[in-house]
Amino acid sequence: MRSLIDILDLTVEELDALTDKALDIIDHPAAYASACQGKKLATLFFEPSTRTRLSFEAAMYELGGHVIGFSEAASSSAAKGESVADTAKIVSCYADIIAMRHPRDGAALVAAQNASIPVINAGDGGHCHPTQTLADLLTIRREMGRFDHLTIGLCGDLKYGRTVHSLIHAMSRYEGTRFVLISPAELRVPDYVHDVLEGQRIPYVETANLESALPELDILYMTRIQRERFPDLAEYERLKDSYVLTAEKMDLCKREMAVLHPLPRVNEISVAVDADPRAAYFRQALNGKYMRMALILKLLAEADGPAPQPEAGLITGKYICRNPRCISAVEQELPQTFRQAEGGVYRCLWCDTAAE
Ligand code: NCD
Repeated sequence: MRSLIDILDLTVEELDALTDKALDIIDHPAAYASACQGKKLATLFFEPSTRTRLSFEAAMYELGGHVIGFSEAASSSAAKGESVADTAKIVSCYADIIAMRHPRDGAALVAAQNASIPVINAGDGGHCHPTQTLADLLTIRREMGRFDHLTIGLCGDLKYGRTVHSLIHAMSRYEGTRFVLISPAELRVPDYVHDVLEGQRIPYVETANLESALPELDILYMTRIQRERFPDLAEYERLKDSYVLTAEKMDLCKREMAVLHPLPRVNEISVAVDADPRAAYFRQALNGKYMRMALILKLLAEADGPAPQPEAGLITGKYICRNPRCISAVEQELPQTFRQAEGGVYRCLWCDTAAE
């Protein structure tokens, strides 16, 4: 049985196969209309969502399956204090596959370790969002025709933007990828993402200046400043208008490039940009549905296979995670577990924060 918690759970070959499958679904929707007949997807959304939840639900309906679930923590037993582990065990009795979004980093991994059905991480706190990356990948393939030799600018909240972390991990595996990381100093990518870039010798630059980066980009990935993750709202107020992509700034970009955004947009892309043919973000949202269809098919097909082996070399009880947003800070009796990562550093198994 497989789950999708981190985009690196899938090999490059598997990502290619998923995009091929999604393209086939686009061309032959009728061939898939009863592929999941009699199967149930549970959507467990402890945090707000429009695209991710509705595209999962639409995906399952278009495969002929059924959907159960909840769209806010207040209507689940989490409001009574139920743990993520218990919720995952219970939902395994009622559904065939779970898509879960949770405000805590690492919550999806806890669910996967306790469920007896595949779990898909639909966003865990400020950590990862692998199915948004699937949508991003299909968009890059359809807009640019390739995954290699692309210069990718990521702009906005690179610290708390979970979609950014997953996309960097995924694109780091393609030849010739270069990143331009555009953010205020306070919102740079976390160190576990830096470590991947350094460890794999991926060329990247960090800058605060959007305009000067624009002319060299093949992809511009704009993001929202993640208000809900800031410990200090005054800091959010100070940083919230850091970047706005306007039609004038689009004049600085290549003619052949694509602007992506996981959405929702607040004000970081002006509405006038929507009419530009390079604005791919609404097409990207549609691509997300097809990739989620391909993913559901894959994980259900592999649901009877062997459970993945637990990671070797884990250390429990030596370090304590200092990330206050980590699931290990609240989940009942969840062991403080660390693994050895890039550069010999020990990182929390649940949220990737380095041990001190
Ligand atoms: C993103 C998310 O939830 O992380 N939205 C999405 O799933 N498309 C991005 C965001 O909320 O800014």
